[in-house]
Amino acid sequence: MIDAKNLTPQQVVRELDKYIIGQKEAKRSVAIALRNRWRRMNADEEIREEIVPNNILLIGPTGVGKTEIARRLSRLAGAPFVKVEASKFTEVGYVGRDVESMIRDLMDYALNMVKDEMQERVKEKAAEMVEERILDILIPPVRKSATNPQKDAVGFNVNNATDEELNERTRERFREKLKNGELDDRKIEIEVKSSKAPMMQVFGPGGMEEMGVNLQDMLGGMGKNKKSKRKVPISEAREILLDEESEKLIDHESAVQEALERVQKQGIVFIDEIDKIAEPSTGAGKSGPDVSRQGVQRDLLPIVEGSTVSTKHGIVKTDHILFIGSGAFHVSKPSDLIPELQGRFPIRVELNSLTESDFVEILSKPKNALTKQYIAMLAAEGVTINFTEEAVAELARIAALVNSQVENIGARRLHTIMSSLFDELLFAVPDDINSGEINIDKAYVEKQLDGLVKDKDLSHYIL
Ligand SMILES: Nc1ncnc2c1ncn2[C@@H]1O[C@H](COP(=O)(O)OP(=O)(O)OP(=O)(O)O)[C@@H](O)[C@H]1O
Ligand SMILES: [Mg+2]
Repeated sequence: MIDAKNLTPQQVVRELDKYIIGQKEAKRSVAIALRNRWRRMNADEEIREEIVPNNILLIGPTGVGKTEIARRLSRLAGAPFVKVEASKFTEVGYVGRDVESMIRDLMDYALNMVKDEMQERVKEKAAEMVEERILDILIPPVRKSATNPQKDAVGFNVNNATDEELNERTRERFREKLKNGELDDRKIEIEVKSSKAPMMQVFGPGGMEEMGVNLQDMLGGMGKNKKSKRKVPISEAREILLDEESEKLIDHESAVQEALERVQKQGIVFIDEIDKIAEPSTGAGKSGPDVSRQGVQRDLLPIVEGSTVSTKHGIVKTDHILFIGSGAFHVSKPSDLIPELQGRFPIRVELNSLTESDFVEILSKPKNALTKQYIAMLAAEGVTINFTEEAVAELARIAALVNSQVENIGARRLHTIMSSLFDELLFAVPDDINSGEINIDKAYVEKQLDGLVKDKDLSHYIL
């Protein structure tokens, strides 16, 4: 991929265009926000620390691409990214400081990301070490040692030069076989760290979380040093050991440092359903104030404004993390958020409802378009699917119709419609149909869906 961090705003928009139809304003804003991180990092040192990110509020009905834009953006940016649902913090059992968990998650994400990259860089070296380890298991090496003569499996003293040479030659032969993958199916016994934590969920008291201590990790850690022996095919052993060896080759401390840097300078937190923690200014909301909603906003405020959060990997400063809030704001308005929080999301972008013609494009254009997904799934079974233009138009028409008649769930409607459309085929392949071409034309769409669309009750449940 292109060095994503240096994408210009227009390049970002072009990349987003590959996945998201319409929503120009939203794409533009996030693209600018992303580039602003780079601008800040390259700005004069004196003022750099003063430049704060302009957080964004994405406002728009359900299923029009809010989350999708944020997700794609983070991938483009190669930036640490987490998505949280604000409403989750209003649930029963919520403890004040839980809101900080979003920063902890971000840190965990970043650390994994950095470690993956570092492991990737040492992959070749690690692979060599893995091969030696496997070879040692297959043909244990013989080494000259006066004080401690080694014996081979049968008990002979192998402590002489010719046996050593023989051993080395055998190892060489096996090394070759290993390289060629000839021994992939052979089983060997290896010692593996039992990384699997015991299957239980631990709910720590809020106070522990606050200190950045995670009970689950502590317990998991206890099991971590236990080693167990397993017999696995060499192909599998390779993967297990590769993980172990590359982990050994990387420096945990510098990974943590790098992750901290990235979180603080490039981290993106996507707060979904932020409207659900706003207090509607009219009607019931006023008379029976929902304390926990305002509470969540108050807890959120310091994090968004810039504060420090302790995580088990160190203290994270949140000042320059980019926050993208998102919500439908049907019942509440952005102005129903507490003023301090409103001020922290100065960029407001409205996303449009999607139209029938947007649906036509969404169905066919994005790299991950639904039609392409179904084509790929059935191609895996040897069946070729073709969509006619009229069929796609009809699907879009139905989606728009059902959205208007039942409930407007935006592009999500396309998912339910496509799964109904393909229901019969997905069951018939490969048992009844295992090759050939199938044309999805308008008539086929009508045959599969008309009944559902006309029957209001059915469309409520199925489409
Ligand atoms: N403009 C669009 N272009 C392409 N696909 C879209 C678009 N809008 C939505 N989709 C598709 O619809 C699905 C739902 O979109 P998304 O998750 O972004 O909705 P949302 O706006 O976040 O809604 P909600 O408010 O319910 O969270 C995704 O699978 C996405 O790929
Ligand atoms: Mg969403």
